[in-house]
This record gives sequence, C-alpha cells and structure tokens, in this order.
Amino acid sequence: MAVTIKSEREIELMRESCRLLAIVHKELGEMIRPGITTKDIDVAGEALIRKLGCIPNFKNYNGYPASICVSVNDEVVHGIPTERRILQEGDIVSLDAGLIYKGYHSDAARTHGVGQISPEAQKLIDVTRESFFAGVKFAKAGNRLYEISNAIDAYIKPYGYGIVRDMVGHGIGTKLHEDPQIPNFAQKRRGIKLEAGMTLAIEPMINMGGWEVEWLDDDWTIVTADGSLSAHYENTVLITDGEPEILTLCD
Ligand code: MF3
Ligand code: CO
Repeated sequence: MAVTIKSEREIELMRESCRLLAIVHKELGEMIRPGITTKDIDVAGEALIRKLGCIPNFKNYNGYPASICVSVNDEVVHGIPTERRILQEGDIVSLDAGLIYKGYHSDAARTHGVGQISPEAQKLIDVTRESFFAGVKFAKAGNRLYEISNAIDAYIKPYGYGIVRDMVGHGIGTKLHEDPQIPNFAQKRRGIKLEAGMTLAIEPMINMGGWEVEWLDDDWTIVTADGSLSAHYENTVLITDGEPEILTLCD
C-alpha cells in the first residue's frame, strides 16, 4: 500500500479527529488512581468516544475485544481491559486509544503512574515521552523516515533501556494502519522521503530492561520477556514544510 498524502480537507478532518482524541486522553488520565480496574478505563473511554460522536477504532480491530488498550507494568501494549485487574499504588499504566471521526482515524498513547511511583519508573515514563519529541523534530518534509527512528534510538541509548522492535509506528488516515512503518530503533535504510500532508503515528515503546517481548496466551497482550517495566508514548503527527503539527496534543 502506498503512503497517502492528505488534502487540505482531509487534514482538517484529521485535526478534528485528533483534537477529540486528546480530550479522551485528558479525561482518562484524570481517572487513574489506585482501586479502579482496567475495565473501568475502557468503559469510560468508549462512552466518551461515542458521546463525542466518534467510533472507537480499536474495538474489533482484528478481533481486539475493547476500545482502549490498557497495559500495566511489564505489559508493553495491547493489554485487554478486565474487571479483574485492579490498579495498585506504584503501578504504571499505558493507555493506547484511538477513534474515527467522519472516516478519519487518530491514535495516541500515554503512560501514567498510579499514585506514588518509584523514581526509576517515573524516569522511564519521562524518557519515553522525551524520545518521541527527539524523533518528531525530524518529522519534516524533505527528511528521510530513518532520521526519526535514528533520533529516537540515539535519545534512548544513554539510558540503557530496551527499545521494542516487534511493534512500530505507522501512517494513519482513513485506515488505522497505513504505510510507512516507523521503527523506533536505528535503521540503515533511509526509508521514504517525508512529504507535507503525510500523517504519521510515532510511538516509542521502551522497556526498562531488554528489548525482547513475548505474547501472552490471550493472543493480544505483549509483555517484556524479562518482566521489566515498559512505557509507551504516541501521537498522531502531520508533516508540513515547516515544523510538524502534533495533532493529538492540545493545549
Ligand atoms: N494503537 C495501536 C497501534 O498503534 C493499535 C491498537 S491495535 C488494537 O498500532 F487491536 F488493539 F486495536
Ligand atoms: Co499506533
């Protein structure tokens, strides 16, 4: 599949889709506290997405059974919300959410601490977010895709964290996953040349230990192979001739 270039009309729809998703993330972030279940987050997220007149794009995506991916501690991504999982003080929880507005997809992820967390866990969350910003600086028309990947890798390297290799960022638009794939680790291949009007979901997934991951028997949940904590940070971004527009970050 080719990489799509969005028209001005499509860009407006992407902007609105992403603006609404930012509202969803803000609300979900505010509900994180010890004692709630991961299912509570999914129920609230789906209700808000629908209240905003949108459709949760993850629900039933390849059979995924929920609207919000909720991944706790050593869970990297695609955790399945359940009323049996109660958030505890000191946990870290990654929320990955997306929606469809008038046919246009948005996708973003945040990792939150539950109550008081260790300085080491907070550092992982902060560095993961910072690595996104290190990468997105290179998300400009005329640059090559690998400049984003290489900048994320270079930012993470001094911390000794593991960069997840099995999952990558992606183009996004009328489909949740479009070309190109966007690895978060250093690439030798330059990849495509970025053009104004491309919309990309850039999403580093960073482990406190090694980069290796495993799949649980539920066929969805991906965990760190060594049991270490993992953090995730993602935004949908518009490529322009100047600075990138980070569409899922509002105010
Ligand atoms: N946000 C994920 C991504 O960036 C998509 C979730 S896949 C789902 O690729 F199946 F859980 F929906
Ligand atoms: Co994504």
